[in-house]
Amino acid sequence: MAEPARVIQSGMVFEEDTSDREPFGAFYQDEATHAAAAEIAQLRGWSASSIRKGGLPTALRLLGVAPPPRIVFVDIEDQPLEEARQGLTELARTGASVVAFGSVNDVAYFRSIMRAGVRDYLVKPVTADDLGEVLVAIEQPGDGARPRGRLVGVIGARGGVGASTIAINTAWIMADRLSRRTGLVDMDIYAGSIALALDIEPTRGLREAFDDPKRVDEVFLQNAMKKIGKNLHVLATEEPFDDLVPMTDDKMLMLADTMHGNFDMSILDLPRHFILREPQLFARCDDFVVVAELTLQSLRDTNRLRKLLGLRNRKAKIHVIANRVSSRPDITVGEFEKGMESTLRCVFPLDTKAVTRASMEGRPLAATTPKHKIVDGLHKLCIELAGIPEDGRRKGLFGRKAPRKK
Ligand SMILES: Nc1ncnc2c1ncn2[C@@H]1O[C@H](COP(=O)(O)OP(=O)(O)OP(=O)(O)O)[C@@H](O)[C@H]1O
Ligand SMILES: [Mg+2]
Repeated sequence: MAEPARVIQSGMVFEEDTSDREPFGAFYQDEATHAAAAEIAQLRGWSASSIRKGGLPTALRLLGVAPPPRIVFVDIEDQPLEEARQGLTELARTGASVVAFGSVNDVAYFRSIMRAGVRDYLVKPVTADDLGEVLVAIEQPGDGARPRGRLVGVIGARGGVGASTIAINTAWIMADRLSRRTGLVDMDIYAGSIALALDIEPTRGLREAFDDPKRVDEVFLQNAMKKIGKNLHVLATEEPFDDLVPMTDDKMLMLADTMHGNFDMSILDLPRHFILREPQLFARCDDFVVVAELTLQSLRDTNRLRKLLGLRNRKAKIHVIANRVSSRPDITVGEFEKGMESTLRCVFPLDTKAVTRASMEGRPLAATTPKHKIVDGLHKLCIELAGIPEDGRRKGLFGRKAPRKK
C-alpha cells in the first residue's frame, strides 16, 4: 500500500491518512446554519463541541494547532473570493473533505470555489436535510465513485420475536435520520408483515423479479417499490400460499446486486429458512442483525444461527438484539450473554402499547414515538451499520491530538 501523503504546514507535519482525526467540524456564522449543523451532528452521534462559531478564519486558526476533522463544514460568507479560495485549498490539502457555505448564488462563483478543492458549495440558508445529503456522498466508502451500497440482513432467531419490526424501524431511521437512500425488502413473499405494518399496498414486484430476474434494474425497482418519504423505498409482496414462486440463488443474487448498486442501504427482512435455501444471498450481506427474546429457546437458536451465519459469511458482522424483554424475562441479560459467549448489541423492552399503536397507525415506531428506547438504540446501531465514523472526541474540536512536530 502507498504511504499516506504528508502535508507540511506551519512547520508541522500532518499525515494525510485521516483515520485518527475527529469525524466532523462545522464553522458557522449565522443561527440557521448553526441549527442545521447541530441537528446533523446529533443525528450522527457527533459531539456538540464539533460546532464552532466563526467562519473560515476560525477554521484556519485551529489548523495551526491540530489537523482538522475528516469532514469540515465552513461558512465563507463575507470572505473575498480569492481569500476564501486560498483558505479552502489549505483546508482541503490536509485531506479533509471540505464543504463551504455562502450566500452568493452564482455559477461562476460556485465553479471558482469548487476549483479550490472543496467537495461542495451550498447557498444559505441550509437545512439539516441539505447537510445530510452532502454528508452521505462524502461518507460513502470509495468516495461515491464505485457501487457503494451496504446490505443488511435482519433475521429472527425464532418466529414472532420482532425481526420485521426491527427491519422496518432500521430502514426508516436510515432513510429519515441518516439521509440514506434506503431499500427495504420483505423477503417473505407469502406471509411477510411489512406491507401490513406500513399500511401500503403489497406489489407483485418480488414475484416478477423472480419470474424474470433480467428485468430487475433501476427502472424496475422504481416502479415496483413503494416510496415512503424522500429516501425510503419498500418492496413488499403478499403472494397466495398456493402459488409456488420459483426462487433460485442466481435470482436472489440478481436482486441483491441491483439493490446494492441502487441504494445506499438495503435492509432485507429474511425468513429463517432462507439460510439453508439461499446461501449466496447471505454471503452478500455486510451485516446481520439477529433478533431474539430472552428465552432458552431463543438462546439456543441464536447460537445455531450465529454459527451458520459465520459459515455462510466470514466477513459480515453479526449484531444480536434482545427484543420484547419484559421486566421478568425467562433468562437474564447476563445469562443470555454468557450462553452466547458474546454481548448483546441492544436490549429492547416489551412495550405492547407503543408498538401496537404504531402498527395501528401504519407507521414505524420511529415515526410515532421518536424518543422511544428502541428507536434510540436502533439509531445508534444504524450509525454503525451505515459506516459513519465514530466520534472519539473528549476535549472538543481539534483538541484531542496534538500534531507531531518534526
Ligand atoms: N418490543 C416490542 N414490544 C411489544 N411488541 C412487539 C415488540 N417488538 C415487536 N412486537 C410485536 O410482536 C409481534 C411480532 O413482531 P414481528 O412481526 O416484527 O416479528 P417477526 O419476528 O418478524 O415475526 P415472524 O416470525 O412472523 O416474521 C408483532 O405484533 C409486533 O407488533
Ligand atoms: Mg417477520
